[in-house]
Amino acid sequence: MIKKLLSLMLGACFTLGVAAQSTLHFNSNEGVKSSLKLYDGSTVNYTSYERLFYVTNVEDSTYQFLNVYVPEGATQQTPIFLRSYVGGYMASPAAQPQAGDATGRALKEGYVVVIPGTRGRNSSIVADKEYAKKHKGIKKGQTVYTGRAPKAILDLKAAIRYLRHSDKDMPGDAERIITDGTSAGGAMSALMGATGNNPEYAELLKAMGAAEERDDVFASVCYCPIIDLEHVDMAYEWLFQQTDSRQSLDDLHKGYTQELAAMFPTYLNSLNLQKPDGTPLTADNYLDYIKSEIIRAAQIAKNAGADIPDSLGFSFSNSAGGMFAAPINGGMRPQMQGGQLQQGMRPMRGGGMRGRQTGEYITDLDMKKYLNYVVSTQPLKGVPAFDSLIDGINNASGENDEFGDGTGSKVNHTDFTAHKNNAIITDDIHRNVKLMNPMSFIGDGNTTVAPHWYIRHGARDRDTAFPVPVYFATKLQNIGKDVNFLLAWNRPHSGDYALDELFEWVADIIK
Ligand code: DHB
Repeated sequence: MIKKLLSLMLGACFTLGVAAQSTLHFNSNEGVKSSLKLYDGSTVNYTSYERLFYVTNVEDSTYQFLNVYVPEGATQQTPIFLRSYVGGYMASPAAQPQAGDATGRALKEGYVVVIPGTRGRNSSIVADKEYAKKHKGIKKGQTVYTGRAPKAILDLKAAIRYLRHSDKDMPGDAERIITDGTSAGGAMSALMGATGNNPEYAELLKAMGAAEERDDVFASVCYCPIIDLEHVDMAYEWLFQQTDSRQSLDDLHKGYTQELAAMFPTYLNSLNLQKPDGTPLTADNYLDYIKSEIIRAAQIAKNAGADIPDSLGFSFSNSAGGMFAAPINGGMRPQMQGGQLQQGMRPMRGGGMRGRQTGEYITDLDMKKYLNYVVSTQPLKGVPAFDSLIDGINNASGENDEFGDGTGSKVNHTDFTAHKNNAIITDDIHRNVKLMNPMSFIGDGNTTVAPHWYIRHGARDRDTAFPVPVYFATKLQNIGKDVNFLLAWNRPHSGDYALDELFEWVADIIK
């Protein structure tokens, strides 16, 4: 009975929230030995340090701590791989390393792994007396949403500061933190990389009891980051307006598509982007540039043996590949089947055969056809794609939740939708939208942006539109950052893939 009471009291402590701890602490003697069997059958041994609270004013004790995993052989100089499991802008508990994703692989590579918990749009507590006393307007017993924007990035920044604060005692090098995340977690990774030490977060972090430390990181790995929520609705319609799916909308929604699409060029041009060769990247050549990025990704896959069907809209060269290239699987050269000349063949002087290695190089892509293919793999989001609410509260998106407040409200966050809805975007919402957008800070002179970036967006991912990751990567390149970017061929909305490639890149940047 006493045991049961104790466990109930402990449970209450974790759900009711407010816990003040006087210091942030890490004790290297408090680790627990553990091991994990990986996807390749190997075992990695490590020491776990869990439930390390990274702020002194804990508002939500279900989430505001991190776990640290130190593989055998790690030293003070070992890089730290920090994985955020945020998805859908929802709360994400501090997790354990997984055999099949980048955390297991990072341990196998010998890196210290850190997995912070973060509050999110769905996390809530029931206010106790102490909480109500501290927060004006909140009554005891009231449900309070603890993780609306910008709480998740504040938690992650606090976690980074905690790692710096504990750097002397904890194995791993807090000056070499590599962040990783997918989708909304990709946005978190992008934010950690792009907002380092920016003063606009400082007061909020102070109020949480985050350590007084720097919060910039060494590198960011961003899979399909859902970023720039202010402008992504425009980008989405600008790209997808040409698809059959958008063309067949009713007049009202087609009108929204056209209005939003028409707003995108001004925004894009305001970014003052340049292509890698230094020439201007503007709304006039942006679609061609995106096309060239898709062709680049497909060509890389083709060179590795993937079959790239022309039915998706690709055109191929008909002469490259070498005259007498060896047949891939042995046997006759394909152009000489059955002793008959195949189409495109002609006899060479001297009796040889000059053949057509049709399709060695991709020369063009019909973007409308390709985008229709992307949409055929998964239907598009509604119009607008992110800031919904046009058709009523029942259609509110996760993003409408994200920018709501502690009462659990759902709100608009773009001028376009707010205007259609006769809604007002308050100064607080404007500020939160800015604090959740890595694009707001890149190159502003007030921010330490990570020097290294690995950015992937699937070439058939429609959760956000290709223009967004492309301008994000280009902006970083333009301010001189080391950016490894790819619209990864045939990948849907997903992350932590091609881990061999990712960890080769990691090995390269830490050399
Ligand atoms: C995620 C996906 C979305 O389409 C979106 O709008 C926000 C987040 C996600 O998978 O995290």
